[in-house]
Amino acid sequence: MKVFPQDFLWGGAIAANQVEGAYLSDGKGISTADVLPNGIFGELKERQANDRAIKDIAIDFYHRYPQDIALFAEMGFTCLRISIAWSRIFPEGDEAQPNEAGLAFYDALFDELAKYGIQPLVTLSHYEMPWALVQRYGGWGNRKLIAFFERYARTVFTRYQHKVKLWLTFNEINMSLHAPLTGVGIADNSSKTAIYQAIHHQLVASARVVKACHEIIPDAKIGNMLLGGLTYPLSCKPQDVLAAQQQNHRWLFFGDVQCRGYYPGYMLRYFRENHIALTFADEDSEDLKHTVDFVSFSYYMSGCATAEAELNQRQRGNILDMVPNPHLPRSEWGWQIDPVGLRILLNRLWDRYQKPLFIVENGLGAVDKVEADGSIHDDYRIRYLNDHLVQVAEALEDGVMILGYTSWGPIDLVSASKAEMSKRYGFIYVDRDDRGEGNLARLRKQSFYWYQEVIGSQGGSL
Ligand code: BG6
Repeated sequence: MKVFPQDFLWGGAIAANQVEGAYLSDGKGISTADVLPNGIFGELKERQANDRAIKDIAIDFYHRYPQDIALFAEMGFTCLRISIAWSRIFPEGDEAQPNEAGLAFYDALFDELAKYGIQPLVTLSHYEMPWALVQRYGGWGNRKLIAFFERYARTVFTRYQHKVKLWLTFNEINMSLHAPLTGVGIADNSSKTAIYQAIHHQLVASARVVKACHEIIPDAKIGNMLLGGLTYPLSCKPQDVLAAQQQNHRWLFFGDVQCRGYYPGYMLRYFRENHIALTFADEDSEDLKHTVDFVSFSYYMSGCATAEAELNQRQRGNILDMVPNPHLPRSEWGWQIDPVGLRILLNRLWDRYQKPLFIVENGLGAVDKVEADGSIHDDYRIRYLNDHLVQVAEALEDGVMILGYTSWGPIDLVSASKAEMSKRYGFIYVDRDDRGEGNLARLRKQSFYWYQEVIGSQGGSL
């Protein structure tokens, strides 16, 4: 197997609300993740004093990060993707001054990473925003959110300018079409116009913080983050090919705006034909010109599209719903496994944008069994990850520029869609179940040693 480039970044990716816990500690405010105790697709529940939710403690990364980072270092990580909880820095989102205790927490976390030479890759917004911004302003539907987000971003860029050189704006920015409350802080049954208006504000905010990042940290790179919803035509009928192209446009649109700096014609047509009339401010087209330095994305699965109504039986996988591909196997959660799709996607994004790519999420959610001796034989996870990394190597051979790979959930964490612990992604097992029971102890799985060897051999062992 071909050895990956020397400067290729290897590691894992986590998100604040899925690992940290400490959901009210040190001045943190309530976030949208806190009012969705059963995950993105669960019911909205305003928090009452005695309510308990699994994410309140999550895997207690807030207190245990030194131990967890030591384990990441043992695997040889050169990069860790984390997110900052906006509600730790600005608990209600609209304050004039940040919360010092929240800033200090991430300072300590970055210092710990630096001890091991692990580069942080930091997402500004990963599926959470201060809940007060939803209650008081109606979420991203309100233009004021752009300024609040910019204040937050400028605060963390300034504070961590010497510690963080790789940034991402919004996690899976295209997901708002499917889960608007989590994505843009508006009700799930909002009209398409309301959702796209909120998305427009988020795209402008993303571009404005790209500009701010370049001003404050000239040697930093800032990227976008797309949910890679690779869609194939269900057959080679031209109508199916067109249906797949249009479905791909629904998510590539975000990348097009963030990489090219303007709305593509196919999207303007979509708005016209669907009577979606958006309000743009005069300065928006100038702001949007601040395009990202690199493109990052998550990839778990692919799916199909068809023009034939009776075959258009969609199933939900990772947030998106797609027509299942008859040629692919599925995970225990029904997500279709398609390693070659990763090579196809890498080539497609490279052809389209000619910007460096970063695979910032990829992994297999599965049930793991702890043996009597404490070992965990997750050969299914090794197979999944190995097969995908082989395709990354193929894409490198194709000439695609790839900055790195951070697998999703290098340590077991609370799943985003349904707040489950039983759906495990980690190389490190965490003793906690769906009811919140367990002593939170960490155990190395078989995949821990596999990944250690992959990184140590720079991909040579794949
Ligand atoms: C991505 C998200 O959509 O998929 C992560 O960015 C999430 O936050 C991951 O955890 C896997 O989804 P789930 O629902 O299995 O946790």
